[in-house]
Order: sequence, then structure tokens, then C-alpha cells
Amino acid sequence: MIDYRNDYLALDVPSVDPLVDKRRKINFKRIWNQLSKCQKSCLLCCVTLILFSFLYYINQNENNGFISLNEHVDNKYILKSFIEGSNKLAHTSENLHKIEIEQKSERISKNDLAPKDAHIFLGPTTERQRAVADAFKHAWKGYKKFAWGHDHLKPISESYSDWFGLGLTIVDSLDTMFIMGLKEEYKEGRDWVEKHLNFDINRDVNLFEVTIRVLGGLLSIYHLSKDGMFLEKATDLADRLLPCFDSESGIPYSDINLFTRKSHSPKWSPDSSTSEVTTIQLEFRDLSKATGNSKYEEAVHNVSKIIHKLDKKDGLVPIFINANSGQFRTYATITLGARGDSYYEYLLKQWIQTGKVIDYLRDDYLESINGIEKHLLRKTEPNGYTFIGELLGGGKDFKPKMDHLTCYLPGTLALGVHNGLPKNHWILAEELLNTCYQTYAQQPTFLAPEITYFNLQPGNTKDLYVKSNDAHNLLRPEFIESLWYMYQFTGNTTYQDWGWKIFQGFEKYTKVTNGYTSIGNVRNTANVRPKDMMESFFLSETLKYLYLLFSNDPKMLNLDNYVINSEAHPLPIYLK
Ligand SMILES: *[C@@H]1O[C@H](CO)[C@@H](O)[C@H](O)[C@H]1NC(C)=O
Ligand SMILES: *[C@@H]1O[C@H](CO)[C@@H](O)[C@H](O)[C@H]1NC(C)=O
Repeated sequence: MIDYRNDYLALDVPSVDPLVDKRRKINFKRIWNQLSKCQKSCLLCCVTLILFSFLYYINQNENNGFISLNEHVDNKYILKSFIEGSNKLAHTSENLHKIEIEQKSERISKNDLAPKDAHIFLGPTTERQRAVADAFKHAWKGYKKFAWGHDHLKPISESYSDWFGLGLTIVDSLDTMFIMGLKEEYKEGRDWVEKHLNFDINRDVNLFEVTIRVLGGLLSIYHLSKDGMFLEKATDLADRLLPCFDSESGIPYSDINLFTRKSHSPKWSPDSSTSEVTTIQLEFRDLSKATGNSKYEEAVHNVSKIIHKLDKKDGLVPIFINANSGQFRTYATITLGARGDSYYEYLLKQWIQTGKVIDYLRDDYLESINGIEKHLLRKTEPNGYTFIGELLGGGKDFKPKMDHLTCYLPGTLALGVHNGLPKNHWILAEELLNTCYQTYAQQPTFLAPEITYFNLQPGNTKDLYVKSNDAHNLLRPEFIESLWYMYQFTGNTTYQDWGWKIFQGFEKYTKVTNGYTSIGNVRNTANVRPKDMMESFFLSETLKYLYLLFSNDPKMLNLDNYVINSEAHPLPIYLK
């Protein structure tokens, strides 16, 4: 268990003795009376001058986007100005008032978003960012018109689809709109959440999906906006999800009914997916930090500890685990793609989120990267592209296949190196990034398929190939995500140029009258076979990462302050 008190700063305001104060007043008065008229005017002049310089100084600092008064300032005024554009002096006095209030309160989070961060979310500053914000507005407009309040837009049939019935597209994209400075759209979304987002629904939902999209989305926008309504909603949701953890082993069931709060395994399997039970920790932990109630973090940290103790293949995990026995399914596939991917991602990100003090998370991560290098890494013929394959049947058969999902890994590796992990991970990151780029660049649409196969046979001329059933593109973000991480750490504009080419692909082949759509075939520019579906992660992740990537400031959302969840929702790093 983690002691929360360490994470908060208690401010001791020294009490002022009224007697001492009074004596001082009398002394001042006597001195004042002894002064000549000329001395008095001179003194008054000086005081006035100092006062004006002070006010000017504050105003200047605000214009620069910095507020120097206090790093613990509550950000509510920023949200207010974000929505209403209220005037600057008002901010300052409200600020001072806030500081007084905060000094009286017992606990102040050290990790509130620094005001200077929020001041940069004022809208696009480059042409490319403007194009991405326009794409967002186009997607939002179609969603609003034909799918408002539903989970996903079906832009071609001009209708919608509901998966959980939680307005996923709205909740998932609130922080994107905040970051892009889209005030009008943000307000529409925020008001919908306040009035209509209701978790008291008799419906089964998936713990993992709802955690990364809805809980993560609400927490992230809570931290950015400091709007307490979002935290209330997040807490209500998490309380309904908690019964998932009431299993014999402590490994959560995958599904739960939000109304009856009954949890169970998926209909199609007795097991939970490994990545699903290990990709909820950032969000539940953050909720514990934000509310001061440790029960959320305890539940998910228990899961991590159980998985830590299980036997692995050099740090690599099978993709299924049983909630009753708490054991992996022995012959399940090992992959960095679907159902395995974010286990590895959250080992590193949890370690960073908690201030790099929980050693076993880092050690398991390092072991898994060694395991990848030992068992899953190969180079293609003839051009030697590095890729990560899969192990089938409990590790016996190697399959030269890589999901697009795996393209998150270069970014995660780079994040590890940035946080002091072995430098040779950087080389692997660059090699994998290049391979992922090839999966886009070698298609005539400049869009990657869902799954790519790789050639290992000398003599063949093509390094990669795509099967018909794998040729679809769901507007996924993982490669753009990695480009942004690499851009943040290097400032190398080549990554921006790659991202721009892919954005052109989306514009050309997935944009339709009422939004953007998944497509069925990236190999044929004449017929991409639109699939009539715009997933919420296109707005939450793909467009957000593109927008950040196209900023002239590589650190627009600084990865020293935030850890980004698996659905692109930034959460604060808690420093010890
Ligand atoms: C976490 O595990 C501990 C010890 O195994 C147990 O006592 C506790 O009830 C668990 N907490 C939750 C919230 O499941
Ligand atoms: C930028 O990245 C590209 C692609 O990885 C690389 O070829 C190039 O050398 C890098 N440029 C610099 C200045 O490091």
C-alpha cells in the first residue's frame, strides 16, 4: 500500500500575534508624525511607484504565459477564462484570493497542472495544427448531427452505434478539445457530460475499455480544467467498476453490469485478457490520488503484484489469464499486439507515474524488453527491417506477423530511455519506428493495414506483405503516438513530416461528407471500401497526437509532468 500523505504538501501559515502587530502600528505612527512635509510626500511617492511596478510585473508575466505567484494555484480560473475569455486583472485578484483559500486548506496537491501549461492550449499555432483542428471540427460536426450522445458515429449511413451507451466519443475527446483550444465544442461536450452522462444503466460493459476511455477521459479533463464535476462522475463510475475485482484470485473479471454491479468473464471465454487486467492501473491510481481514497489504487495494485509473481517467459506474458485461478493460460499466444501490448506499456508508465520508486515495475519492464530481443525480434529479407513477431502454442512456433497496435512500442521505449533506462533501447526504438513507417509508406494510400506479415526468406523481393483480411485501417493512433514521443525527445522534424504524410492519407481516403471512416482496404486507392465507422479513439488519440506532433514546441505537453494513458489521456506524474 502507498502512503498518500507523502504526496501532498501541508502549508503551515505562521499565526500573527495581535499584540506585536499593534505595537508596530504605534511605532510607525510616531515615526510618521516626526517627518517633515517634504519627507512625507517623498515617501508616499516611493510607495506608489513600488505598488505600480508590482502590478505591472504581474501583468507582464501573465502576458508571457507564466504566473509566478504560486505554483499551487487552483486552475479553475483558467477554465473560466477558457470558456468566457474574462479579463486578466480579474484573474490576478481571483488568483490571490485562491492562494489565501488554499493556504488555509490542509492538503494541496503538488502535482496540479502548472498554470503555464494550460495557457498554451489557446488554439493552433502552425498551419499543420490548424489542419488537424479543422479535421477534428469536421468529425465533431458529423457526430453532433447524426450520433449525438451515442458512442460512435457511422458517417456514411448517417447514424450511430452504441457499444456501452456512454457517449464514448464525447467523453473520449474532451481533453483533445481542451488542448486544441476548441472552446465552443468543448462547452457542448462538457454540458452533455454534466446533464446526460449517466452510469446507472442496466448494461454490461468491458472494464478495460471503460477504464481507459471513460475513467481516463474524465480524470484527464478534470486535471486540465479543474472542473470538479468530472471528478464526481469519475468516482461514481469507478465505484460501479470495483466489483470486477471481487474474484477469488484478485485478477478482475472482464465485464460488469453498471446497474446491478455484477461482474463476470467475457461471454466467449472463461479468461480475461492479460493486457486488459494490466491496463487500468494508471487510471484507478490517479483517482485515488485525486480523491484521497486509497481503495481504487489498492484494487489495481493488487493485480500488478499478482502478475509480477507469476512465471513468465523471460518477462513475456501469455495473452489470457483466469480470474478464478489467477494463472495464465499456458498455451496462449505471446504478442506485443492485441491482448498483450499495453501490459508492457503500463509497467513502464506506472513506474514513472509513481515517481520511479516501485522497482519491480521497472525490473519487469526491463526483463520483458530483453525477452522481446531474445524471442520476438527478427530482421526481414532483403532490406533488414527490424520487426516484432509472435510466439504461438506457449512459445513453440514463431509467426512473422506484427499488429499495427505494436507500433506504440517505439514511443514507450523512447520514454524509458528518457527516464534513464538503457540507451540501446533507443536504437531498437528507431529501428521499429522505421519498420512501422514502412507499413504506411509501402501502401499506395499511405495508410497502414491492421496487420502486416514479414518476409524472412532470402531470395524474395518484398519485405512485407498484407493478407486480404488484414488490409483494413481503423484510423488507429499507435504509430503517430510513437512519432510524437520521438519528436518530443529529439525535436527531429522528420517525424513531423512523416506524420503529415499520413495525415494526408487520412484526409484523402478516410474523410467523408459527415466525418471520417474506417476503411477495408489500404492497398487499393480506387476502392478503399469505407466501413462506415468512426471510433472514438480517432478523436481522442489520432488527432490529439497529430496536433501535438505539429506543434513547434516539442514539449507542448511535457512528458516530465504527465504520463499518457493507453487512450491518449494525460494524467499527472506524482513526484515523491
Ligand atoms: C488487496 O490485497 C490485499 C492482500 O492480498 C487484501 O487484503 C485487500 O483486500 C486487497 N484489496 C482490494 C481492494 O482488493
Ligand atoms: C531525424 O530522423 C530521421 C529518421 O529517423 C533520421 O534519418 C535523421 O538522421 C534524423 N535527423 C537528425 C538531425 O538526427
